[in-house]
Amino acid sequence: MLKIGLLGAGRIGRVHAEAISAHPKTELTAISDAVNDAAVGLAAEYGARVQSSDEIIGDSTIDAVLIATPTDTHSDLIEAATQAGKAVLCEKPVDLDLERAKICQKAAGATGQPVMLGFNRRFDPNFQALKAAYDAGEVGKAELLSITSFDPAPPPVSYVKVSGGLFRDMMIHDFDMANYLTGQIPVTISAVGTSVVDPEIGQAGDVDTAVVTMAYADGSLAVIKNSRRAAYGYDQRVELLGSRGLLQAHNVLENSVVKSTADGVTGAKPTYFFLERYMAAYRAEWDAFTRAIQSGSNVPVTLEDGVAALAMAEAATRSAKSGRPVAMEEVF
Ligand SMILES: NC(=O)c1ccc[n+]([C@@H]2O[C@H](COP(=O)([O-])OP(=O)(O)OC[C@H]3O[C@@H](n4cnc5c(N)ncnc54)[C@H](O)[C@@H]3O)[C@@H](O)[C@H]2O)c1
Repeated sequence: MLKIGLLGAGRIGRVHAEAISAHPKTELTAISDAVNDAAVGLAAEYGARVQSSDEIIGDSTIDAVLIATPTDTHSDLIEAATQAGKAVLCEKPVDLDLERAKICQKAAGATGQPVMLGFNRRFDPNFQALKAAYDAGEVGKAELLSITSFDPAPPPVSYVKVSGGLFRDMMIHDFDMANYLTGQIPVTISAVGTSVVDPEIGQAGDVDTAVVTMAYADGSLAVIKNSRRAAYGYDQRVELLGSRGLLQAHNVLENSVVKSTADGVTGAKPTYFFLERYMAAYRAEWDAFTRAIQSGSNVPVTLEDGVAALAMAEAATRSAKSGRPVAMEEVF
């Protein structure tokens, strides 16, 4: 049984607490949070003990830590945990700052400890099936990848202010999905963003709606569309046009009933948000981490993957500000 310390008992920390405790080979042993009451409440639900993050990292009885704290703490905690001999699963993104993330990658790499990044969408069964079909050559060579990712409602502006902006906080998942599906990193990135959903997000210096286009060395293209608001729920779709056909992963709906009457044809909405849509993916992500740690094999999503996606977010942020395409070699 692996003993796990969870750092951060907020929105995503609660999701991971469930996955860790539901897994037959891991025990949620200790929880920390900067707000002690948050850790106490979650620890009571799972029978874990409450410790500070430093205490968990220094605790020789803990085998691995899951970092679910705000983004600006990730690099410091990854470095401290790996230097203390812990395996790490850390939430995305690696850091707000690309240069800091690269330093973290080097420092953690030098310890030899496994570090996995929390790109949970790689573990969604629909996207995995799409990738398997593409890798098997079923639609030929990729020519145009389209990723749609709309949240149902924007986060509080207080979160936006510390998030690093839409490209680093939200679209980072889609950058990683593009890398995962195509197996390559783009050559150039062009981005345009606006704040039509909530003017306060614009006043905070961020955008809530954005489109990115990416060009690859092999001549193929990708487009990513993000919005912080979709009135009908969490819209998560992928479409891959290849030389011999099209692969599409549609939304997961609340139910599969379609009503057809004289008034028209209607069906259920997409599931509400990430908790509903991706709970199976978070469990599969945790299982993949656990298997890698126990078998000594490589983790399936690396710090290198995290740095690559962050570099793409950096390029998109610069492109949206300057209004010109940004070459990946300018940032990476
Ligand atoms: N993969 C996903 O689907 C997904 C979804 C949401 C958030 N996230 C990522 O997870 C991270 C946390 O996001 P959230 O929405 O859960 O935020 P949150 O604010 O709800 O929770 C973060 C918690 O960490 C605590 N904290 C702060 N510093 C700490 C420290 N040094 N040690 C221990 N606890 C500390 C805070 O008090 C808070 O309770 C962010 O990096 C975000 O990008 C990922």
